[in-house]
Amino acid sequence: MDAADVSQDLDHVLFTEEQIHQRLDELATQIDADYAGREPLLVGVLNGAVMTMSDLARAMHSHMQMDWMAVSSYGAATKSSGVVRILKDLSCDIRDRDVLIVEDIIDTGLTLNYLLDHLRGRGPASVEIMAMFRKPDALQVDVPVRYIGFDIPNEFVVGYGLDYAQRYRNLRDVGTLAPHVYS
Ligand code: PRP
Repeated sequence: MDAADVSQDLDHVLFTEEQIHQRLDELATQIDADYAGREPLLVGVLNGAVMTMSDLARAMHSHMQMDWMAVSSYGAATKSSGVVRILKDLSCDIRDRDVLIVEDIIDTGLTLNYLLDHLRGRGPASVEIMAMFRKPDALQVDVPVRYIGFDIPNEFVVGYGLDYAQRYRNLRDVGTLAPHVYS
């Protein structure tokens, strides 16, 4: 799906597919260098991180491995508690592994804050975070992110894995949603 396919639903395009891929190439180069001689386990957080994981992994030139988790907050009322429920756990043991969590977006930071703590408890050699987008104005906790694609405004953003009511994940570009869609 291109921005032109949903132009009436978008206020404006923030990043084109080309800009996203260019930034991912830069991050992949950095990750390749940082993990030289090691084989990181990239842990994608479903569903949003599917696009980022898929493009980042292919932009890398070194060996890596891939696993997935699915998490959910306990609902709006308890979201601020930062406790998340694990809906799908990893398939592999991460003890002594170099783990790189791959996320599409950091909003409040609560999901990653919990996940980071939780995965550290499993005895990995290291845990780092890569996130394609981050909303600095929405952060409620300080998450130590090693690799960040773009900082974005605190607006309704869709595309490249980011959804609104489960739609627009397959939009190639990233754009802000027009208010008539969600109001
Ligand atoms: C999104 C995103 C992160 C989380 C970030 O997931 O993928 O996991 O929210 O928000 P936070 O920083 O406020 O915790 P979401 O729960 O929307 O599920 P999805 O990945 O299936 O879209």
